[in-house]
Amino acid sequence: MNAAIRSVVRYAIYKKLEVFGVSRGWWGLINEELKPLDHRSVSGIINQGGTILKTARCVEFENEEGQARAFNTIKKYAIDAMVVIGGDGSFRAAHKFYLKYKVPCIGIPVSIDNDINGIDTTIGSDTAVNTALCAIDNIRDTATSMERIFVVEVMGRNSGFIALQVALGAGCEEAIIPEKKFDLEEICHSIVEGNLRGKISWIIVVAEGAAKAEDIARKITEYTSLETRAIVLGHIQRGGRPTAASRTLALTLGQQAVDCLLKGQSDQAVGVKDGEIVTVDLETATKKKDLEVDRLYNLIRILT
Ligand code: F6P
Repeated sequence: MNAAIRSVVRYAIYKKLEVFGVSRGWWGLINEELKPLDHRSVSGIINQGGTILKTARCVEFENEEGQARAFNTIKKYAIDAMVVIGGDGSFRAAHKFYLKYKVPCIGIPVSIDNDINGIDTTIGSDTAVNTALCAIDNIRDTATSMERIFVVEVMGRNSGFIALQVALGAGCEEAIIPEKKFDLEEICHSIVEGNLRGKISWIIVVAEGAAKAEDIARKITEYTSLETRAIVLGHIQRGGRPTAASRTLALTLGQQAVDCLLKGQSDQAVGVKDGEIVTVDLETATKKKDLEVDRLYNLIRILT
């Protein structure tokens, strides 16, 4: 997010525009928490995770009163256009707000879940996957040396994106994801069969929205009598130094968002699709994304 903020601020200033940073997203618009951002205000943030503007899930914005207060702030500060940096929740809210108040608005897609439709990748998803991948690589050392089973819970309340990517990239045996029904007995059965053939360790990745690692680990131990440990990676996946891919994407899309607004575009998200810079209607962007779940899921199982 910080790389995107830096890009929007500096490119907009280069284009002779004035920029305000809104604290905590929609909350800041409702509560009039915004301040001018100059070139210097975004120095030294390109390598930091999170966002200098802070972010929050804002329930007040869901009701009409909250939206009206946000619009009042926009009028009071004579704001001509908005750049919304966020995920599907932010985009849904932006689309609704645009339909009602017609404030020009462009979305920059940021989410670890890569769940914005119509584009290849969200800012931050590459960073999150690499963080989880490194953690699992480390866990594998114990799994192999101590001949254990590990169940690793990764983020993804509604999305199996991180789980599938890391299960494939870390050579894990199984991915349990919200998009697919799973049969724990079948998984346990294959562990027992593998163990009889001499296999000594397993890493099973579970997305938090599909099951709890603790529950899966307990049931595996009960069924197989093999030593199983549960690990929850949690919010470490949501922070840390952004990868080169996440930064480059953020810096590119920051510029694009400003250019789109200058060209009079609105109610759209910017992104990269098949190597090209594109815009997607916010309504389309918030539809369910095809994450090639079946292809990845099957490949994980074939390569085990
Ligand atoms: O925004 C989606 C997400 O990254 C999910 O993958 C995860 O479940 C959630 O955010 C975590 O949010 P919180 O920190 O509010 O629990």
